[in-house]
Amino acid sequence: MDYRSEILRLKEERDACIVAHLYQKGEIQDIADRVGDSFDLARYCATTDKKTIVFCGVHFMAESAKILSPEKTVLLPAIDAGCPMADMADVEGLRKLKERYPEAAVVSYVNTSAAIKAESDICCTSSTAVKIVRSLPNKQIIFLPDRNLGQYVAKHVPEKEFIFWAGYCPTHNALTTMHVEEAREAYPDALLAVHPETPPEIVELADFVGSTKEIIEFCTESHNKEFIIGTEEGILHQLEKRNPDKRFHMLKYRFICPNMKKTSMEVLYESLRDMKHEITLSNEIIQKARLSLERMLHVK
Ligand code: 13P
Ligand code: SF4
Repeated sequence: MDYRSEILRLKEERDACIVAHLYQKGEIQDIADRVGDSFDLARYCATTDKKTIVFCGVHFMAESAKILSPEKTVLLPAIDAGCPMADMADVEGLRKLKERYPEAAVVSYVNTSAAIKAESDICCTSSTAVKIVRSLPNKQIIFLPDRNLGQYVAKHVPEKEFIFWAGYCPTHNALTTMHVEEAREAYPDALLAVHPETPPEIVELADFVGSTKEIIEFCTESHNKEFIIGTEEGILHQLEKRNPDKRFHMLKYRFICPNMKKTSMEVLYESLRDMKHEITLSNEIIQKARLSLERMLHVK
């Protein structure tokens, strides 16, 4: 079957837009109306006038789209595409921390469930975390679930006291300084750009640290011709498309988020054909979680 033309036809029929995270397969990125990092996609979904949003990404991203546009139908084509880091945070544990640190602001990375967002003061993404923590009046910050991103923020906002959750992304956390030593030796002229979900010792060695979108902007604007990339390899698709004259090397062999790879053209086609899998949330959770997401979108 010609999935591409069927998807495009159904998209019109359903008055849908397709959004894709930068870790999605190349063919999915190519058919999407919008490709971006978590922040960019959240903002796009909050403003689209389409009736249906088909989210090619992982569960928490589609949930955020539903929270921001509750009147729209939000579909997650691969229903089992979760985020193990998001699953590391639980509401009970967060409530206990809030009791222990009643003065602290709760800043949750968007890589969390809607229930955690509902218990948070504000959300952040990797591209907005430093700015958001800085904007808060509280001295103490409960930051969850990513301890690596948390430590990256803490380094940039030393005037605050942080209480970290012990979560991490299994894909990014697997990096060691050995990967950096080997890559630097193999590509001595390359600049190293990494995601802040990588461990602090990797961040320390990098030439640039940023979200997926920021890594693309950095490599595209740089005069350097060669880069070592410290994030999921789906990002290579846009990097290579936008920079045919530059060379990109992965910091680690098979740098893959298996959940991000669960959306295929067939799965996307079936999603639009059968209007599945629809994200549903209780009104109460939507109302509470929406506050923390909207605060994030409004921080200047
Ligand atoms: P970005 O916001 O940088 O796209 O990150 C999303 C993510 O899940 C990284 O693992
Ligand atoms: Fe979650 Fe890591 Fe995959 Fe991002 S790369 S979706 S943090 S498991």
